[in-house]
Amino acid sequence: AQGSSWKGKKVLVTAGGTIERLDPVRFLTNDSSGKMGFAIAEAAVNRGADVTVIAARIQGEPAAGIHVVRVESAEQMLEEVLSRFDDMDIVIKAAAVADYRPIARADSKLKKKSDRLVIELERTTDILQTIGQRKKGQFIVGFAAETEQVEHYAMDKLIRKNCDLIVANDVSVEGAGFNGDTNIVHLFGQEGRIASWPMLQKSEVAHRLLTLIAERITDKGDR
Ligand code: PMT
Repeated sequence: AQGSSWKGKKVLVTAGGTIERLDPVRFLTNDSSGKMGFAIAEAAVNRGADVTVIAARIQGEPAAGIHVVRVESAEQMLEEVLSRFDDMDIVIKAAAVADYRPIARADSKLKKKSDRLVIELERTTDILQTIGQRKKGQFIVGFAAETEQVEHYAMDKLIRKNCDLIVANDVSVEGAGFNGDTNIVHLFGQEGRIASWPMLQKSEVAHRLLTLIAERITDKGDR
């Protein structure tokens, strides 16, 4: 059901690729455009929800009616997600968050020295896992960007990160994953694979995903 069925629901979405700086003018990032996350945010607004997007590096301008908080790094995204998490009903983590960041961040532009440069990286905090541990009734949806053994890794993430749903995309397949307007996704819940959808516009993936979430929340019977 569309219309105002999500009226009063607070939805937090993350979108885009985080930026991990090496110096003031150089950074590590990834190909995420934010299209998947913003398609979900727009679909939730269309259902009447109160939607906030924590957006890292994205392409284009977000649609009207969405409250957007801009961040750069995984650490900043973590902070913005955590400060809102307790109030949320549904959290959907479509952002491509860096798993590693440079240990050192230079305050001025790095100078050329020798022929080789080694950059040391350290792990970032896993945002999804952190909120999974704090969950008190929120419905949490994680994404999984895989290139092989999609089901195996998706289920591993679902359990390890204590999600209610995982949306897995095989990012090595044409028409799926980063950057384009379409995606091919497989949905997993605690019971295993729920569905595999054909190649769809990201807007249609978003619409179907919200329908699935709505069914599952009703089944839980607690909100
Ligand atoms: O933005 P688009 O160009 O439209 O592309 C969409 C997408 C491919 C980015 C999207 O569909 C997607 O798959 N997003 C998740 C990408 C990712 O980081 O996947 P992962 O398998 O590395 O991470 C699994 C989950 O943990 C994700 O929900 C991620 O947000 C989360 N995570 C990961 C690392 C970290 N430090 N903190 C996290 O919360």
